[in-house]
Amino acid sequence: MKEMLEQIRVRALDALDAAQDSNELEALRVQLLGKKGELTAVLKQMGGLSAEERPVMGQLANNVRADIEKKLEARKVELKAKALEEKLKAEAIDITIPGDPVSLGHKHPMNKALDEAKEIFIGMGFQILEGPEVELAEYNFTKLNTEEGHPARDRSDTFYITDDDSVLLRTQTSPMQIRAMEAIKNPPIRVLAPGRVYRKDEVDATHSPMFHQIEGLVIDKGITMADLKGTLVTLVKSLYGEDAVTRFRPHHFPFTEPSCEVDVQCFKCHGAGCPTCKGEGWIELLGAGMVHPKVLENCGIDPEVYSGFAFGIGLERMAMRRFRISDLRLIFENDVRFLEQF
Ligand code: DAH
Repeated sequence: MKEMLEQIRVRALDALDAAQDSNELEALRVQLLGKKGELTAVLKQMGGLSAEERPVMGQLANNVRADIEKKLEARKVELKAKALEEKLKAEAIDITIPGDPVSLGHKHPMNKALDEAKEIFIGMGFQILEGPEVELAEYNFTKLNTEEGHPARDRSDTFYITDDDSVLLRTQTSPMQIRAMEAIKNPPIRVLAPGRVYRKDEVDATHSPMFHQIEGLVIDKGITMADLKGTLVTLVKSLYGEDAVTRFRPHHFPFTEPSCEVDVQCFKCHGAGCPTCKGEGWIELLGAGMVHPKVLENCGIDPEVYSGFAFGIGLERMAMRRFRISDLRLIFENDVRFLEQF
């Protein structure tokens, strides 16, 4: 019996050493130590031993069992470590491979030009407002002193939404003057209202049925044409440099009196005339004027107490000049090869 136990010990330890994974280990455990295992089979024969031999063999059998269990535990730990090692090797990541670049976009040139303008006017104490693109004809025209029958209200110029022509896509940001006065009520009012406007124009290098304007409005006691000039000259100098030359030309708008258009001297030819300014020497920048007393009255502001000025800038025109873009269509086509240049 002693030899049998010793044999079991030697074979068991060898087999455990040779096991390749935890499944094999488990199978060996059952085979060696299980109820129907080899060691159990030997112990069952203990009944046939003499009283002296029995405790000796019992101790030996316990020894063998303890050795096998110890080995089993040790191999379990080893094989687990080996398995982990292999898994890590199989899933290894080569951290030296360059990653996929994440390309960052940037602002559209129109937004850049708009941000510049906002910055300048916020510096002068203006508040930025936004308003609806689907507008009431009453705000877009009537309250701006543009009565029924005015050519600007013609169906060939304006996108009407309703059959009775009372709702439309705004043709200008000027209705924001009315909305600002109605919302703020008590002057001083100093607002800038940028946004989209719509007109029935065919698309060409300088026209689009949708474009952007920036509306400005200032109302307070004692506001004069000098304030209008000072503000707009500041704008032009901030945009085009200290030496930019500005020209104020008389014009007509129904909602301002007097009205003017403001030109900036061509930055290319300095007034001599060239293709950029179409030989004029000047480039038109915006429309402006002193707010018509009737418009103030329409908004419940007493024209005997308050006065103000307003202006409307074409944002595309401003951006085109700022970034030297020659065709309006490029701004809206969203070709990244074009946009990436700014
Ligand atoms: N709304 C005018 C247009 O679209 C531009 C304009 C002119 C706005 C004079 C004004 C202004 O505020 O005072 O042609």
